[in-house]
Amino acid sequence: MIPDPAAKKQAYALARERVIAMWRGEADAIARMATAACILHEAMPHAFWTGFYRVVGAQLVIGPYQGTPGCLRIGWGKGVCGTAWATGETQVVADVHAFPGHIACDSRAESEIVVPVKDARGTVEAVFDVDSTEKAAFDEVDREALEEIFSRWYDHD
Ligand code: SME
Repeated sequence: MIPDPAAKKQAYALARERVIAMWRGEADAIARMATAACILHEAMPHAFWTGFYRVVGAQLVIGPYQGTPGCLRIGWGKGVCGTAWATGETQVVADVHAFPGHIACDSRAESEIVVPVKDARGTVEAVFDVDSTEKAAFDEVDREALEEIFSRWYDHD
């Protein structure tokens, strides 16, 4: 089920408060990712996979997530996640079958959003990936809300 824009905004506003409260005083990246994946997955009924790929050397390596098993490693510039890493820009993909080089970790995936997670200097440290079994599940409401939450990533106070 894809929530209407008002319902999405309300769910993201609540999730944002919960994520920021739980991140407070916690600098460990895995702890922060695990908490965000859990809270945001609960907030998004339009998602079946919600989680992180971490930049480790020249590849993305899977991090904390909720959902079905994801691919373990993704190369720079590969798929939607690798593109978000390479460009530093959020990718909103309404139809993954139309995205050149899309990596199908689960054949049920139809649409997705991937938000780069940057450190204080703007270097991509990880990407946050959300997948849906429905086409066009993500839009500007999701982009705005998720980018706002991840702009707080390196704020450890
Ligand atoms: N769909 C992603 C791969 C990761 S998963 O689906 C969990 C991509 O093309 O980057």
